[in-house]
Amino acid sequence: MVADIAAQVTNRTGIKVFPRDVLRVVGALGATDNFWRVASLVRLPFNAVAEILNSLTEAGVVVVEDGSLRVSPAGQAWVEAARTEAPFVARCRTCGGRGLDLGLFQELLAWLREIGRSRPAPIKEFDQGYVTPESTVARVALLAARGDLADKELLVLGDDDLVSLAAAFTRRPQRVVVLEVDPRLTRFIEEAARAYDLVVEVLEQDIRARWPEHLLHRFDTFLTDPPETLEGLDLFLGRGLASLKGPRCAGYFGLTFTECSLEKWQLLQRRLTGKFGVVITDIIANFNEYVNWDYLLDSVRKDLGFVQVPPAGNWYRSAMYRVEVVESVTGHTDSASNAELYVDREALAYTGRT
Ligand SMILES: [Fe+2]
Repeated sequence: MVADIAAQVTNRTGIKVFPRDVLRVVGALGATDNFWRVASLVRLPFNAVAEILNSLTEAGVVVVEDGSLRVSPAGQAWVEAARTEAPFVARCRTCGGRGLDLGLFQELLAWLREIGRSRPAPIKEFDQGYVTPESTVARVALLAARGDLADKELLVLGDDDLVSLAAAFTRRPQRVVVLEVDPRLTRFIEEAARAYDLVVEVLEQDIRARWPEHLLHRFDTFLTDPPETLEGLDLFLGRGLASLKGPRCAGYFGLTFTECSLEKWQLLQRRLTGKFGVVITDIIANFNEYVNWDYLLDSVRKDLGFVQVPPAGNWYRSAMYRVEVVESVTGHTDSASNAELYVDREALAYTGRT
């Protein structure tokens, strides 16, 4: 029966689902009755989780009451037989599992919280959803710890997380350049940079347009939180890599399981280590925690009652990748005006069935 459900979900979503994935979802119901929390725990694309739960309700293993999920009495025996258990969570309480001491950055954290009060709210058009101030500070701390911050030239591709301001606030980088399409954000970043005398420059540059000469091979470090279609990843990371000076320069980006299957992780890793010429030095799980955004329920599928419930706390997280150039780097400089950056079958916003 587990195999049947996996096959059915694969069929309905076009996302590969295996029996272990189904069991992981059932196991997560031992920890929560909230769909979004399940989605956060199971390391599977959102649509696969929704469809697995839909199939489990059809099979009578799971019942939905007022949008809450629980295993049915009939399903209970099935769960025990399958010997699933709730995911064991034992994150370090001091560092939240990031492996970094943020003690040196308390002033930065307080400042980010302060300016964050007047920042623009995320909007759907640009696939926005920003991280907590702790996550932004942790990114800066990670750069500092890896030697990618002090006296370096940084490029930030898309910055609703305000990493550019945070990095510059430490007074460590030589220069921070931000590319951002949302005029509300560019204004916000420019005003904060002026008010606090920060070495941040905001450039207007369409990421899809041919990558200009003045950005090629000019930076030591790039950061981005890319959209997670393959084309989006290829474009954002390719642009970042094309902008690096050369060997031992580094790039940082977040990657989820919620919008990126293991199959896509594998394709991306092959591309990074193959075509792009970098090595993956760090993958830190659950590094970035996103603040819940207003348009979530409006943008996801409406046909399942348990999906249309508010998340129980912040649920969307991404792993932090650090990649480093080994000998030489190949980026992506060609025009990509037709690239689909935001929506594929694994995207939150994907609402069609296949
Ligand atoms: Fe720790």
